[in-house]
Amino acid sequence: MKKILGIDVGATGIKGAIVDTTAGKMITERIKLATPKGGKPHDMIQTMQALIKEHNWEGKPIGVGFPAVILQNKVMTASNIDDTWIGKDIVKLIKKETGNPNVVVNDADAAGMAEITFGLGKNKPGTVILLTLGTGIGSALFNNGILMQNTELGHLKFKGGAAEKKVSNSARVSKELDWKSYGKALGEYLDHVNFLFSPTLILLGGGISKKFKNYGKYFPEHLNVVPASMQNNAGIIGAAMSYEALS
Ligand code: BGC
Repeated sequence: MKKILGIDVGATGIKGAIVDTTAGKMITERIKLATPKGGKPHDMIQTMQALIKEHNWEGKPIGVGFPAVILQNKVMTASNIDDTWIGKDIVKLIKKETGNPNVVVNDADAAGMAEITFGLGKNKPGTVILLTLGTGIGSALFNNGILMQNTELGHLKFKGGAAEKKVSNSARVSKELDWKSYGKALGEYLDHVNFLFSPTLILLGGGISKKFKNYGKYFPEHLNVVPASMQNNAGIIGAAMSYEALS
């Protein structure tokens, strides 16, 4: 059994658990800490450090899913975190502040890796897309099981703005949309994604995937959309798997 601490960094919460990466399972209860206000680099890494301490994981390998485009260890975007992240070598920063060897990938790509390896995306031919609905919308795009990294489908232009500002879970809450209005708007966005990529399957992740039956019934019928099977744990499991795959 290979054990890695998986950390799923979100704009609202930073979650972690020790993962058996061979089985694709968390072997400890997941711990969630609040993301520090402002989402600044040092503060966020301090929260990761707190998770490392909680797990007695000093000096040991960690895999991190982070809510930004990550290219060659650098943070390239900052939609829901502080702008000072942009251009920072996050792998170096985490190593310097915590001492832990680490690998960092986009958070939705991490969740997608877990779903395509152990969840409903397993052995699915053609294109499979995972969309995570949270503060933003993250995406992981696979073709015949191969990930195309950093796709950012949450930033597709939709109804005059970025899709994540219209149909993420936080948009639903701030616009006080009822399930029907939300389901219809989200369905329209999913239909657009479906038209562009002709996926075999679209998986919906994020905490709101648990409430799928409230809004999924308003999606256009021709869409093949289901809630992701690993729900909110996919991000932690996939982050740990990324360490295995990329370190
Ligand atoms: C970011 C993505 C991220 C998604 C989910 C978006 O705002 O641009 O990189 O995957 O939020 O956290």
